[in-house]
Amino acid sequence: MAALKVLISGGGIAGPALAFWLSRLGYDVTIVERFSCLRASGQQIDLRGHGIQTLKRMGLEQAYRSKVVNETGLQFVDSSGRQKAFFPANKTGKGLQSFTTNYEIMRGDLCRLLYDATKDHVKYIFGTSVESFEQDDKSVEVQFTDGSKDRFDLLVGADGLGSRTRRMILPPDSPDPFYSLHMYMAYFTIPQQEGDEYIATGYLATNKRLLFTRRHSPDSIQAYMGYSDDLDQLKDVMKSGVEEQKKIWAELFQDAGWQAQRFIKALQDDSLSNDFFTHEVAQVRIDNWSRGRVVLLGDAAYCPSPATGMGTSLSLVGAYVLAGEIAKHLNRSNGVDGDNTDGAGDPILSALEAYQRRLKPFVSQVQKLASGFWVPSSPRGIAVFNFLLGLAAKLRIDVLSRWVLREDVRGWDLPEYAELAQLGLSE
Ligand SMILES: Cc1cc2nc3c(=O)[nH]c(=O)nc-3n(C[C@H](O)[C@H](O)[C@H](O)COP(=O)(O)OP(=O)(O)OC[C@H]3O[C@@H](n4cnc5c(N)ncnc54)[C@H](O)[C@@H]3O)c2cc1C
Ligand SMILES: *[C@@H]1O[C@H](CO)[C@@H](O)[C@H](O)[C@H]1NC(C)=O
Ligand SMILES: *[C@@H]1O[C@H](CO)[C@@H](O)[C@H](O)[C@H]1NC(C)=O
Ligand SMILES: *[C@@H]1O[C@H](CO)[C@@H](O)[C@H](O)[C@H]1NC(C)=O
Ligand SMILES: *[C@@H]1O[C@H](CO)[C@@H](O)[C@H](O)[C@H]1NC(C)=O
Repeated sequence: MAALKVLISGGGIAGPALAFWLSRLGYDVTIVERFSCLRASGQQIDLRGHGIQTLKRMGLEQAYRSKVVNETGLQFVDSSGRQKAFFPANKTGKGLQSFTTNYEIMRGDLCRLLYDATKDHVKYIFGTSVESFEQDDKSVEVQFTDGSKDRFDLLVGADGLGSRTRRMILPPDSPDPFYSLHMYMAYFTIPQQEGDEYIATGYLATNKRLLFTRRHSPDSIQAYMGYSDDLDQLKDVMKSGVEEQKKIWAELFQDAGWQAQRFIKALQDDSLSNDFFTHEVAQVRIDNWSRGRVVLLGDAAYCPSPATGMGTSLSLVGAYVLAGEIAKHLNRSNGVDGDNTDGAGDPILSALEAYQRRLKPFVSQVQKLASGFWVPSSPRGIAVFNFLLGLAAKLRIDVLSRWVLREDVRGWDLPEYAELAQLGLSE
């Protein structure tokens, strides 16, 4: 029998994580990435809970550790930069992690790590994407943007928050299941200056504004600007060019205090902040993660938003469960006939159905709890939230990991897959 032939659209985090498992199972895996090279940009991310467990099962913890960012904790400061609260990173490895985990890493480093672990077994095609596809009950025929065509047993859309694959599997007139959390963020990197420490620093400004810094390198820091409400000005500029976007953010923070002028200066200097990126914070919630032999993975299917601290973990866990279900159902269908208890006779369709059934309770916890706390429905709610955060910081209750971040998923265990375990990768 020919090896299962899989096309993955998107070479971010979730796509390569799935390719990692599928290629080791001996399947024939191709990744198409729209960007012309590995898109290893982005700021600091982390792994929590089941995400760490999955990393260990992939046997990649040692490699990951060698890239970990050295952040001592999270502090909140007032407009003069005086520390008002400090939540230290908890290096004991026990209980919930604080805001700063033992698994802080730059997105680009994780991206490269996954790429290096897959590039010898997986075919990567950069600068290309899926133009369209058609499927029958045996395969998916894919038309690529470079004019070529090919046939696959399975197409996986791991193409992120703005997934094109998602739009293509939804009925033409249905709205994109993109739920705004009524918050905007901008990220960029600026040069280090005297006094910057290896610490995350939050500053709550008036009028729903937030400034935030993190440091990952000797010569630069990460700058974050946040606005926690709807604002037409911001919404409109999301579709414009980077220069207009920078201009709006700079205007919005003119009188914000603390290091606002440092941020704005960097925004206005063309030689700095050239990795500027801004977006509307949102979740993706969709009823069906697949249609036929086309399935969604990672942010494309269930982006929980950075507010949960679980996006990267969810991607690794999702890739593991999808790979596990595919391997399990193919193994079963090769064995005893009629042992397929999941309904449809086609093992791929059964696997996709099982992937959603298994993972959805986990995803729902990560997303629902977040929307109950981090996403108050009114502007007033958001203001109250900001106030409570400041108060809790003073009381030294680690409110972020306990009530905001969604590491603490209960009553859901990472499934065991004999087919993945027998690969012997676990550390
Ligand atoms: C450039 C970038 C920077 C990011 N920075 C941060 C950050 O600072 N903090 C944070 O918390 N999260 C960040 N994220 C999101 C974070 O990576 C995800 O939330 C999470 O890791 C889930 O990963 P994913 O693979 O599902 O999606 P992503 O990491 O978004 O990867 C999706 C990939 O698909 C590619 N793609 C998109 N459309 C197509 C298409 N039509 N055809 C082929 N390929 C396509 C994209 O170029 C990208 O490489 C960033 C994502 C990107 C793409
Ligand atoms: C770290 O977490 C453990 C387990 O929850 C806790 O007992 C310990 O006090 C924490 N240490 C710090 C420094 O917060
Ligand atoms: C990590 O941070 C601490 C505290 O700021 C610093 O003393 C130490 O030199 C840093 N280590 C590395 C490897 O950067
Ligand atoms: C999900 O898709 C299946 C067929 O692919 C369909 O029968 C079912 O109604 C869909 N469910 C929802 C909630 O859209
Ligand atoms: C296939 O499934 C059987 C029965 O569950 C199991 O014993 C076997 O280890 C599986 N094969 C592989 C390669 O994992």
